[in-house]
Amino acid sequence: MPVLVMKSIRLSALAATCLAMLGAVPALAAGGGSAMSDHAGNDVGNVASLQRGARNFVNYCLGCHSAQYVRYNRLAQDLQISEQQLIDNLMFAAEKPTETMRISMRPADAERWFGVAPPDLSLIARSKGVDYVYNFLRGFYVDPSRATGVNNVMLQNAAMPHVLWELQGEQQAVFEDVNVGEGMTQKVFKEFQATSPGQLSPEEYDQFVRDTVNFLDYVAEPMQLERQRLGIGVLAFLLVFGILAYLLKQEIWKDVK
Ligand code: HEC
Repeated sequence: MPVLVMKSIRLSALAATCLAMLGAVPALAAGGGSAMSDHAGNDVGNVASLQRGARNFVNYCLGCHSAQYVRYNRLAQDLQISEQQLIDNLMFAAEKPTETMRISMRPADAERWFGVAPPDLSLIARSKGVDYVYNFLRGFYVDPSRATGVNNVMLQNAAMPHVLWELQGEQQAVFEDVNVGEGMTQKVFKEFQATSPGQLSPEEYDQFVRDTVNFLDYVAEPMQLERQRLGIGVLAFLLVFGILAYLLKQEIWKDVK
């Protein structure tokens, strides 16, 4: 009996340790410096949002960032827009609908101007995650010590200027000193304080960014639109087939008692 009790105590101690370790993992990850952790809440099935996102992208991002895996005509097809709408609204940087979303800026020049060449954004939603990009585009704050006049809470000393500042307005970041033990403190982002309003309200700006991120999410995996549509069809098929199989089974076994 005492042996059993001992065992169960040891087991529960083990379980408690495991749980504590599991709990520590997210805490450690959060300590890694992701200042904002808001969710993008985007929906790649929302075609209107994708269309707005595409418009935002070509107007505000394509000057510096390419999306070299995206072909304009495929985009038009997936986003349900006509070729004329495509040419009039989205194709400022290309001649033919069969071209991909490239930019004319040469990487060497870009590096000279910004210090870091703007990365291609075709796969950014997958490599960094939609939530990261959502927070990054909302994370710029005034910092006179930077050449661009801004810094970013998601990417310290980001080389990217705040290209959406007219829309968002300007904000200051408030940091607080957090004790990290052994008498050391660390500056941790607390909140933003708006210092001058932009053309959009905060809610409108979030929606603008959500649409843009939604577009990048689609771009990173265009197949997901088709997969969603296919998935619904497959589930509907399985449901109907399941009902039929059940009815058939009832029919076949009805005389067997
Ligand atoms: C004026 C040029 C310019 C424009 C316009 C621009 N960017 Fe950037 N962007 C940059 C540069 C330069 C970097 C590299 C930043 C770094 O690594 O410090 C960058 C980096 C990024 C990153 C990667 C951040 C990271 O953590 O590595 C994302 C995401 C991004 N930009 C999104 C966008 C989106 C979306 C738009 C349009 C709303 C946009 N950018 C418009 C210059 C630009």
